[in-house]
Amino acid sequence: MIGVFDSGFGGLTILQNLKKALPDYDFMYLGDNARAPYGSRSFETIYRYTLESVRALFARGCPLVILACNTASAKALRSIQQQVLPFEFPDRRVLGIVRPTAEEIGKFSTTGHIGIFATAGTVSSQSYLIEISHFFPELKVTQHACPMWVPIVECGERGTEGARFFVKKEVEALLAKDPEIDTVLLACTHYPLLEAEIRAALPPQVRLVFQGDIVAAKTVDYLKRHPEMDSRLSKRGGTSFLTSDTAKFFEKGAFLFGMADISAESLTF
Ligand code: DGL
Repeated sequence: MIGVFDSGFGGLTILQNLKKALPDYDFMYLGDNARAPYGSRSFETIYRYTLESVRALFARGCPLVILACNTASAKALRSIQQQVLPFEFPDRRVLGIVRPTAEEIGKFSTTGHIGIFATAGTVSSQSYLIEISHFFPELKVTQHACPMWVPIVECGERGTEGARFFVKKEVEALLAKDPEIDTVLLACTHYPLLEAEIRAALPPQVRLVFQGDIVAAKTVDYLKRHPEMDSRLSKRGGTSFLTSDTAKFFEKGAFLFGMADISAESLTF
């Protein structure tokens, strides 16, 4: 199976794109709901939680794990890839979602000015700035943290006046930092669910970029380039769900992220 990890529910938005692009593959999703959100946690904590989750997915038969969480990708991926995999799991792979997005984002802009909305943790890690500078050194990148947006989604407040207020506030703050921005990246798993509010607040000429499509296309490409990994992945088109919270909590909350009628299994690390 392809393991898909997120701090909680947000990675379900990425999982949906992956399933569309790879309908025959089997996926195992793990949400660390009991310890979410990760957005404002320290590097050490995010690393520890993410590594525990990756180990759990490895133990359940996933040779490939995608960290479908920007915060975990930004803060834990590199250490896992460099300090853990070569010594303990030389035949397993962990991929993140920051780098594949960074490889593409510059292609969307004509002014050469882009904006990024993300959690405080992703912004402070500077991961996007560092990765994008490798591929598009001329691009002017302005980041903006939106700490209210994850709770707005998780509390089911999409479409309300409160949601519109907090989205408009952050959109205006980003554009005030750089009015030449013509492309905005949603670099947090939850933000695509606020698409309507974000589009309403952005000037019409500003392009909105979603990560799910990019990550799915890059994963397809990765599997083509790595047939040795591809051949180890089961292909029955199934998806199973694990959560560090109760199964009931996950099954109920996943509904807000477009996944109804699923059954989950609870795990303890
Ligand atoms: N999944 C996280 C991300 O993409 C958002 C939720 C959280 O803060 O845990 O950054």
